[in-house]
Amino acid sequence: MEYKVKDLGLAETGAMKIEWAESRMPVLMYLLEKYEKQRPFEGQRIAGCLHVTKETAVLVKTLARCGAQVAWSGCNPLSTQDDIAAALARDGIPIFAWHGMSVDEFYWAIERTIDMKPSLTLDDGADLINTLHQKHPKMAREVIAGTEETTTGVHRLRAMAKAGALLYPVVAVNDAETKWDFDNIYGTGQSSIDGILRSTSILFAGKNFVVAGYGHCGKGTAIRAQGMGAHVIVTEVRPLQALKAVLDGFSVMTMDEAVEIGDIFITATGMKDVIVKHHFERMKDGAVVCNTGHYDCELNLKDLKEITENVREVRPNNEEYSLKNGRKIFVLAKGRLVNLAGAEGHPSEVMDMSFANQFLSLVRCAREGRSLSVDVHDVPFEQDEELALLKLKTMKIEIDSLSAEQEHYRDDYLAGT
Ligand SMILES: NC(=O)c1ccc[n+]([C@@H]2O[C@H](COP(=O)([O-])OP(=O)(O)OC[C@H]3O[C@@H](n4cnc5c(N)ncnc54)[C@H](O)[C@@H]3O)[C@@H](O)[C@H]2O)c1
Repeated sequence: MEYKVKDLGLAETGAMKIEWAESRMPVLMYLLEKYEKQRPFEGQRIAGCLHVTKETAVLVKTLARCGAQVAWSGCNPLSTQDDIAAALARDGIPIFAWHGMSVDEFYWAIERTIDMKPSLTLDDGADLINTLHQKHPKMAREVIAGTEETTTGVHRLRAMAKAGALLYPVVAVNDAETKWDFDNIYGTGQSSIDGILRSTSILFAGKNFVVAGYGHCGKGTAIRAQGMGAHVIVTEVRPLQALKAVLDGFSVMTMDEAVEIGDIFITATGMKDVIVKHHFERMKDGAVVCNTGHYDCELNLKDLKEITENVREVRPNNEEYSLKNGRKIFVLAKGRLVNLAGAEGHPSEVMDMSFANQFLSLVRCAREGRSLSVDVHDVPFEQDEELALLKLKTMKIEIDSLSAEQEHYRDDYLAGT
């Protein structure tokens, strides 16, 4: 089978969106121009498992134009944009993704990308790598190297490496500064608010907005909600992160306390069971609850169903749970990433940096993968610096540089007052 998408007739709409994204991803377009003639991926078979958005399509097309044979699946059952998948299928990419796929179909789609016997992999959440390791270990041993896009995936891969279970080297693209400190903060911040707004059209000003987790995604979401006039409350488990939230001007309390006063809740932790039955039971009537972490286990919806009399969809991506205690709770995007299931994911400008990192990391994997140890590797500091400079250039922003004298001063440990 060459592809499986919802409706090939959507391809033209998807192609227009991809063109729009391309116009806002100048760093990746610069890399395409630089590498297209070199064809660094000639002979490589790249299997990818990553949200099918217009920005991902730009990356897929860039990899293909640089010589790769590419096969793709989405990394979340609700995040595929069907018009984008159709456009990629029409362009001859073997893509297996549609919005609303079941969990079985999700893993079936990953298997179809594995059919090509990949030499390189690109993951967002480590489901592809995990499937290769669990179901096709012989094939996994032949993979040269892979990359991982998100925090949860990197956590899992580091755990696999520690347990000696990892079978090929992986580059932790998520941990590059030009990814983690931009995509997760500004991308997730803006797009999660976008997802909440599209699903509710709720007023933020004056609302109590509860953010669980003050890491990268949580911080981004908190600062954007504050900018819209919400009173932001943070819950955390790490003292350092909680302290940062306090000094950034947010209220910090336990979830037990926050549930009594919150109007909107968002989880951004990568942890399961952040909001459970005893929390739902005490929420205010009309509370809106959603998640922006990678998996849908942060809100325990099984618990919520146990105390619910009736569920109905009141708007796209917005389900009203009528509780036995008479209150109503509104759950967005079935507890899956609200920014991707309820909106279009991160803006192209920020994905430009993430995917430029993906691209350069895959070039590194293709060229040096065989000499990398079987472990989780960081993106080199020089790549981060190069991409930050390139991004600034595309924004027409110049910065100062140190003179030779200043560099000498920096390293002169004898210099005093
Ligand atoms: N929605 C998106 O598009 C998107 C984008 C990037 C990352 N992610 C995902 O979002 C999640 C968070 O990523 P990140 O980069 O912010 O990670 P991070 O490690 O920077 O932050 C997570 C924070 O959550 C806190 N935390 C853990 N368990 C908690 C709990 N029970 N209650 C309160 N706080 C808790 C941790 O202490 C940490 O500070 C991951 O699953 C990641 O894969 C989603």
